[in-house]
Amino acid sequence: MADLFDQMADTNRDKQELARGALCLPAFVLDRAEEVIAELEPILTQAPLRHLITPGGHKMSVAMSNCGELGWVSDRGGYRYQELDPLSGQAWPAMPKLFLDLAQQVAQEAGYKRFQPQACLINQYLPGSKMSLHQDKDENNKSAPIVSLSFGINAEFLFGGLSRGSPTKRLTLQHGDAVVWGGPSRFCFHGVQPLKDSEHSLLGRQRINITFRQVY
Ligand code: SIN
Ligand code: FE2
Repeated sequence: MADLFDQMADTNRDKQELARGALCLPAFVLDRAEEVIAELEPILTQAPLRHLITPGGHKMSVAMSNCGELGWVSDRGGYRYQELDPLSGQAWPAMPKLFLDLAQQVAQEAGYKRFQPQACLINQYLPGSKMSLHQDKDENNKSAPIVSLSFGINAEFLFGGLSRGSPTKRLTLQHGDAVVWGGPSRFCFHGVQPLKDSEHSLLGRQRINITFRQVY
């Protein structure tokens, strides 16, 4: 019955400090989830999800797109933010006001004021997709936090320390959950374990994670 279980958002989980400056806010955006998903549809029509190639030449298992003034991309030339979608040569779709509002609410809740993200990276995980432990360090602004919102099926999120070998905490991110990390934990290693197959009532067999980044 694991499948059915995933569909029911468990709103009774406590807010959790993952490290100093890092907070998980269970179900924080649950009541806006359907609106977020509706906003994603035209964005992903204009800038479709695609599997980027790492600088080392590997195809990422997570499919990505962006909205906002800047988008994160990867290719043989490296990781970077850019104004144009390399697929279309056009600007990324605008970031919906709802997205900015939610990102700022999450940041504020964790004590990060004046969060002004220019980029929203959209990650699609299908069963089996994973994201290896990494640091988010392509942003020029090193003081703004990262804000993450999760939708769809559950994921096991790993949150470690400032070196790759630091011990990691593992937590299940569910539909409607928010995570924010900044300040002393801004450069903590984090990742996502291979997604277990499951089905969500709104999104089907996928997880969508959106992260907000203040690049400058
Ligand atoms: C990321 O690190 O960019 C994504 C994290 C997540 O999918 O929860
Ligand atoms: Fe990341």
